[in-house]
Amino acid sequence: MCGIIGYVGREEAAPILLNGLRRLEYRGYDSAGVAVYHPEDGLTVVKTKGRIQNLADQVEARGGIRGTLGLGHTRWATHGEPSDVNSHPHLSENGRIAVVHNGIIENYAEIKEFLQSRGVHFVSQTDTEVVAQLLEFYYDGNILDAVTKVLHRIRGAYALGVLCADCPDRLIAARKDSPLILGYGDGFHFMASDVTAVIQYTRDVCYLDDGEIAEITADNVWVYDAYLRPVEKQLHRVDWEISAAEKGGYEHFMLKEIMEQPKAFHDTVSPRIREGKVVLDELTFTPEYLRNLEKIYVIACGSSYHVGMAAKYTLEKLLRKPVEVTLASEFRYCDPIVTERTLALVISQSGETIDTLAAMREAKRLGARVLSIVNVVGSTIARESDDVLYTWAGPEIAVATTKAYSTQLALIYLIGLSFAETLGTITPQAYDAIVDELRRIPEKLTEILNHRERIQYLASIYFNHPSVFFIGRNVDYAVGLEGSLKLKEISYLHSEAYAAGELKHGTISLIEPGTLVVALASYAPLFEKTMSNVVEVKSRGADVLGLTTADLEADMASVVNHTLTVPQTHPMLLPSLDVVPMQLFAYYVALMHGCDIDKPRNLAKSVTVE
Ligand code: F6R
Repeated sequence: MCGIIGYVGREEAAPILLNGLRRLEYRGYDSAGVAVYHPEDGLTVVKTKGRIQNLADQVEARGGIRGTLGLGHTRWATHGEPSDVNSHPHLSENGRIAVVHNGIIENYAEIKEFLQSRGVHFVSQTDTEVVAQLLEFYYDGNILDAVTKVLHRIRGAYALGVLCADCPDRLIAARKDSPLILGYGDGFHFMASDVTAVIQYTRDVCYLDDGEIAEITADNVWVYDAYLRPVEKQLHRVDWEISAAEKGGYEHFMLKEIMEQPKAFHDTVSPRIREGKVVLDELTFTPEYLRNLEKIYVIACGSSYHVGMAAKYTLEKLLRKPVEVTLASEFRYCDPIVTERTLALVISQSGETIDTLAAMREAKRLGARVLSIVNVVGSTIARESDDVLYTWAGPEIAVATTKAYSTQLALIYLIGLSFAETLGTITPQAYDAIVDELRRIPEKLTEILNHRERIQYLASIYFNHPSVFFIGRNVDYAVGLEGSLKLKEISYLHSEAYAAGELKHGTISLIEPGTLVVALASYAPLFEKTMSNVVEVKSRGADVLGLTTADLEADMASVVNHTLTVPQTHPMLLPSLDVVPMQLFAYYVALMHGCDIDKPRNLAKSVTVE
């Protein structure tokens, strides 16, 4: 949700900024810009509506921009439509101060009015321009002081990068509720929204905390708290390869990431199974805490929430404790019933989703203990949790999540098994059977992926259906929710997911000849029930694409138009297999529609605004 980058060093800044922006583009892509300073040229800003390539073309058309320090931004619009003038960086009225921003300044209208009453002229509709103009208002020769004053005046969420032409050897960075890292090099330093932007240049990073301000020059970094008291930061070494953030021969990141799922699942699970036992060294739960646990509250958004939906079936079955799954954006406003005996299980790929972060803080405030499942190491949610389990999926670049979803699910199984063993709510035989099957999931995933041509073929048959319903029961319903989201977000087709038994309570009126229904019926105990619902939609003219396990295919094939199958596994683990054909179906449908699969319209990865 907006990407920012800043570079100060001895190399030409513009190519480095553009390169970093390309890697941040998944965070927002409706406009982009750079500001670069050179002693002879002063502060040059180039910004434009559209993708980074438009910006790069414009920079090239003017023969490049000279200068060894600068800021860059790729935008996901909040305040002010995507346009050249609303693109970042924003300048103060006299062109001395440039600002890039990720987040929302909630009290921007009031500050704008205040500045306008003092004669300041605004050119954009953005909240960010207010920061640039307010900086100029407070600036009296010391940019750091001006930034501090501004931060005490603004409310909201921000990761800010500031460049002042009067002190052209340094950049100022500040953060609250929006991610910001610093990258350390020999004779250069970076600020950036995430490590993907800087990994090509350095692996040494530090994560700024809320309320911190940094001053960076080519040779030094100083970090302060909100009152300019120095703060010692710990450096972290990023250990993944740069190739992990590249397409590696695939047409889209999404397909690459779908194909990486066997490895991602294996990397997440296998180090945590030793001698047939689930070992979660990272966790600090005592048996007494688990015994006293009254309730698990799963808090997440989007696909991570869908993992939560599957988790409810799994964890309630394994632990015999109530599990409530809640959308993070609703949690804070529903007066949740949370006590010290509540575990908040927070799920987030990015670890920065603001709704999830805010809900997590609220759960903590109310007394819950927080266990998070996070992919991005060092992200805010990970750092603020009492316990964290990392999904070892590697960087996920496509906006639509795939491998993060799969590895989040994997961790749900491990948590369930580990807690159930401690609580004595699982028999040793059942435990061993699930552990055995867990180990075999990667090979079964590979088997599904090896047969992806069939899914592509079915997508070619169904891609023109304008409206799609996904139905299923139990874990099949949970996967249907994800299948539907995948399809709608990348192909822009209307789709909805329903618990199969619920359709007849209203929604079935939308089924007419030619409506596509994707029926998930892999969960054997409810196969017949779901098939009854399939017959109901079939008899109203729906085209049905069914998904089930290989052993049940024959029973399904006689009723539906086409079938997709996954290998058999333990019923609890089915979502891990079922989701893959759903991801591929969405991918191929979107491909046939010629959609921008990795960067669907209106979306951004890592949603850092409420
Ligand atoms: C959908 C998708 C989103 C995210 C959601 C939460 O493909 O990726 O629905 O799942 O925005 O993001 P995280 O998991 O980063 O908190």
